[in-house]
Amino acid sequence: MSCLPCQNDPNLIVGLERADDAGVYKLSSELAIVQTVDFITAIVDDPYTFGMIATANSLSDVYAMGAKPLTAMNIIAFPSDTMDISVMTQVLRGALAKLKEAKVSLIGGHSIKDKELKYGLCITGIVHPEKVITKSAAKVGDKLILTKPLGTGILNTALKAGLLKAETNARLTEQMLRLNDKAAEAMVSMGVNACTDITGFGLIGHTCEMAEGSGVAIEIFCDKIPIIPETLEFARMGLIPEGMHANREFRACMVEEGKVDNDLLSVLYDPQTSGGLLISVPPDKAETLLTRIRQAGDEEAAIAGQVINKPKSQIILV
Ligand code: CO
Ligand code: CO
Ligand code: CO
Repeated sequence: MSCLPCQNDPNLIVGLERADDAGVYKLSSELAIVQTVDFITAIVDDPYTFGMIATANSLSDVYAMGAKPLTAMNIIAFPSDTMDISVMTQVLRGALAKLKEAKVSLIGGHSIKDKELKYGLCITGIVHPEKVITKSAAKVGDKLILTKPLGTGILNTALKAGLLKAETNARLTEQMLRLNDKAAEAMVSMGVNACTDITGFGLIGHTCEMAEGSGVAIEIFCDKIPIIPETLEFARMGLIPEGMHANREFRACMVEEGKVDNDLLSVLYDPQTSGGLLISVPPDKAETLLTRIRQAGDEEAAIAGQVINKPKSQIILV
């Protein structure tokens, strides 16, 4: 958003100038508010589950900043001519269940009539102004922890095509429903340099943002990346979401692809819904933090890369 005019507000800690997962505004020397908004089209048939996933997805940006979410507001686009109003009730019930789990209060919102169901939330959280975790402070030598496996875009495409086994579907749903709260808590308690969450731009897209923002290069350990089972097989069959191609086209110029095969590349660029956190942590803390994150419930978390010293912001697949 660099084409927009600058705002010179001294209390603005994170704004449009250095786009991050959420905006951060200082209220006092002890307190800053964190704000973000996110909404998505229905990715699953069950409206209650969709409400829960959209909520976990919206909360994720606040966790990625190292902040604690407090309040939420609905954003609903609803096709009232073609869909029964009970669907909206179910979406909201799902959202409320997830918000309750996250100890966040729903305080309002806004709905419009639209051709397609869309739902999400505007979330407000709090953080100490000096403890904000951005995506632009990764340091050379840091290890990168990815907390959830990749594959939600490809598997949701397979689901729409009716090709997903019940077992894989259950795993996919469980992962999209899982909050990033515990991983974030572990990260905040240990202290890390940078974090972002993996969503629509895929692992590579969000890694690129971290590299650019931090002025570093990043190596991705391709054989260490956690991937949901069957994702690679569906990629091979061509069940690839539209967004993957856009992500790849946009970022290919920054990426040294090496000998990585095309199916794995599709997974690395696959747009994620309610994906995990990507945490840049000093090397001496990496193993301990990884263990804590796994014990807290993200059992497939892995050290997925490292920050290296290179003159240009680049992503190197090794
Ligand atoms: Co984000
Ligand atoms: Co977002
Ligand atoms: Co209104």
